[in-house]
Amino acid sequence: MSGELLRISGLRAGYGRIEVLRGIDLRVERGEKIVILGPSGSGKSTLLKCIPYLVRPWSGEIHIDGLQVSPEPNTLRRIRASTGFVFQQYNLFPHMTILRNVALPLELNKEMPRREAEKSALSVLNMLGLGELAGKYPLELSGGQQQRAAIARALAVDPKLLLLDEPTSALDPELRYEVVETLYQVAKQGRSMLIVTHELDFAEAAADRVVFMDEGLIVEEGDAREVLGHPRKERTERFLRRLRSRLNSFPPSN
Ligand SMILES: Nc1ncnc2c1ncn2[C@@H]1O[C@H](COP(=O)(O)OP(=O)(O)OP(=O)(O)O)[C@@H](O)[C@H]1O
Ligand SMILES: [Mg+2]
Repeated sequence: MSGELLRISGLRAGYGRIEVLRGIDLRVERGEKIVILGPSGSGKSTLLKCIPYLVRPWSGEIHIDGLQVSPEPNTLRRIRASTGFVFQQYNLFPHMTILRNVALPLELNKEMPRREAEKSALSVLNMLGLGELAGKYPLELSGGQQQRAAIARALAVDPKLLLLDEPTSALDPELRYEVVETLYQVAKQGRSMLIVTHELDFAEAAADRVVFMDEGLIVEEGDAREVLGHPRKERTERFLRRLRSRLNSFPPSN
């Protein structure tokens, strides 16, 4: 790890008049993997979306690799080309094959010719063990496969920073496993990742740092095992306790 990749300072954002993020400061070092946890509505998705300007911040600053995020078209293009985004819902284009889905951002954001983009897309799919799915359409795949293809699409542009928003939460428990495996694989490659997830095993094993958010603020952050094993704040402790009891009672027995 060397040097700072992302710096967020004094970030405030919201919708209409409702303030959601109430002053977020966060630094991510190159190669660092950070898991963001927190109750529903605490602003986790809003935080991720502010980074590539999918949500417009009210105030504060975001720098990626020294470049300040702003609506200026040239800047925005560079920012978006250096971040990959994986949403809870896979958002693949249904009328395009998996190969086309993965190749498209290379053609649009990196201005690669189609043939070269597809070659590069195929190598990312192969790397994630999805090569045979290249010619299929999203609806021919399981949810887990679609989400893995969405991860491939985000990786195809070789982003400096990969943003993932609850990539497993829309999936049935038996399909989560394969996506978590893919996340491990990506984490091992040393790419910087900011990931909202309640997969605590993944957080414990793969994250460098855990950030706990509540009500639009970072309540606690620190070494992943430290925060998960010995949270210092009562709110973090209570949240983790509830999350674990929910996980242990799954699937519901009645
Ligand atoms: N597009 C929107 N328009 C209006 N309000 C929104 C919008 N998106 C989110 N909100 C509100 O902002 C608050 C924070 O939402 P956000 O999605 O960032 O939370 P979250 O921590 O990601 O929650 P979850 O765990 O449920 O995904 C919530 O009160 C939500 O209702
Ligand atoms: Mg969310």
